Amino acid sequence: MATKEKTIREDTMAEEKDVVIKIRDLRKSFGENHVLNGFNMTLHKGENLVVMGKSGSGKSVMIKCLVGLMTPDSGYVEVLGKEINTLNQQHLDELRSDIGFLFQGSALYDSMTVRENLEFPMRRHKEKLGVVSDTMPLVLEALENVGLAHTMELMPAELSGGMKRRVALARTLILKPKVILYDEPTSGLDPITSKEIIELMRSIQQKYGTSSLIITHDVDCARVISEKMILLVDGINYAEGSFVDLSTSKDPKVEAFFKK
Ligand SMILES: Nc1ncnc2c1ncn2[C@@H]1O[C@H](COP(=O)(O)OP(=O)(O)O)[C@@H](O)[C@H]1O
Ligand SMILES: [Mg+2]
Repeated sequence: MATKEKTIREDTMAEEKDVVIKIRDLRKSFGENHVLNGFNMTLHKGENLVVMGKSGSGKSVMIKCLVGLMTPDSGYVEVLGKEINTLNQQHLDELRSDIGFLFQGSALYDSMTVRENLEFPMRRHKEKLGVVSDTMPLVLEALENVGLAHTMELMPAELSGGMKRRVALARTLILKPKVILYDEPTSGLDPITSKEIIELMRSIQQKYGTSSLIITHDVDCARVISEKMILLVDGINYAEGSFVDLSTSKDPKVEAFFKK
């Protein structure tokens, strides 16, 4: 009896230790527009979790609440063991250096070279990296990860849309984040470039063991990358499971996602 109780407690603790992001009963409205109505989500270490939702369903609102860019009306949001809503600006900044973002249309600074774009977050988060006298090896490594080492001295205007997205990904990698948040990483890209980006996301996850939250409405992206999926419908985690579980569901609201 005692042994069994101990085991259960240890199991719970082990599970807690592996949790990277925890969202409980998240609510956010804009006036009468009730966007999130009790959304729940758990991202475990090393996992690729895809959240799919229709345009305007609150995916970006959710991700903004996650990183403290938006304050929820209520609910619990924890990232890497820290409760977001209790952090002061300094602690929030420290935490953000462990979070990589690839946000919708992640813009590069047009007036800076690719190298300077990558050096930028390193300057912002000096305390994490310590004194880096020579940024070049880190910039090079990050660019090599996305196959763009040769673009170091180019200006963003000289790059294609797909290349820009890859540079933006390299920029999120340079701080060696523990978790990467992707908001519509393939939106606005042609199918071939989308596939390249998805492959890169996978290879990065394998190389660094990063945990990833991928927000998308791209079924192909979800098919390739997800280990677990959540469908965001009516402001809640309406359905959860593997891609196969969900794509074979008979629930009309779930089926609607997978109809071409
Ligand atoms: N800052 C804001 N002020 C008012 N309404 C907002 C704001 N941000 C988002 N919304 C509304 O919340 C809903 C969800 O938006 P969003 O999370 O951006 O959707 P998506 O799932 O496409 O990312 C939309 O109806 C949008 O108009
Ligand atoms: Mg969005």
